Amino acid sequence: MPFTLRSPAVVSVLERLHTHADEQDGPASQGVRAREAAIGERLAQEQRYELYGEAPLAITREVGQILYLLALSSGARRIVEFGCSLGVSTIYLAAALRDSGGGTLISSERHERKIVLAERNLADAGLGDLIEFRAGDALNTLSDIAAPVDLVFLAGRNDLYLPVLRLLEGSLSPGALAQRSLLRPSRRLSKPGVQEPVFCSHGAANWNPSCP
Ligand SMILES: C[S@@+](CC[C@H](N)C(=O)[O-])C[C@H]1O[C@@H](n2cnc3c(N)ncnc32)[C@H](O)[C@@H]1O
Repeated sequence: MPFTLRSPAVVSVLERLHTHADEQDGPASQGVRAREAAIGERLAQEQRYELYGEAPLAITREVGQILYLLALSSGARRIVEFGCSLGVSTIYLAAALRDSGGGTLISSERHERKIVLAERNLADAGLGDLIEFRAGDALNTLSDIAAPVDLVFLAGRNDLYLPVLRLLEGSLSPGALAQRSLLRPSRRLSKPGVQEPVFCSHGAANWNPSCP
């Protein structure tokens, strides 16, 4: 079986993007925390994203590998991603599609410059042929996705996860998976009472946090 994550093009692009994220994401989060401390309240998600600017806010290498395995082992052929940023998670998902014989990844991003960079990064990784990018607010751009969708990766504003899922519900295949983004899995998963991050659809409007 091919292992696209080890191809020189993918290794090189991922290394560049992860290094960039290692440098940018910490300061971006600190900037938001400092602003919240100054005003004494939590910012709305929309305001947070304005402050994040062009920071990638990317998943880590470890989360990327988990995401790759999830997509590969589920046999997903058609994947929808909400919030691709510069395309780190998109590369892991597309690599899984490549290694399982092909498919389509529909990826949304509303930041104009980020989606241009993401397209370039996916092309540089040799995975551009698997992606259909949709620029703009996912609530608009993901409203006409054709069935069947096997896997949804939710990585945009987290207050929009449910509205985006609702938008896609009619197009999901039976037993489709929805995975929310985890930036730091070890911290989150070690907290008691925190739901497991994978959700399964057992019919329209019925999301269950424990997959069979
Ligand atoms: C956490 S980052 C995604 C990181 C990316 N999945 C990765 O791992 O490389 C979230 C992204 O969602 C985008 N976003 C936020 N709200 C959105 C919306 N309503 N529609 C489309 N994209 C959105 C932001 O611009 C941001 O780039």
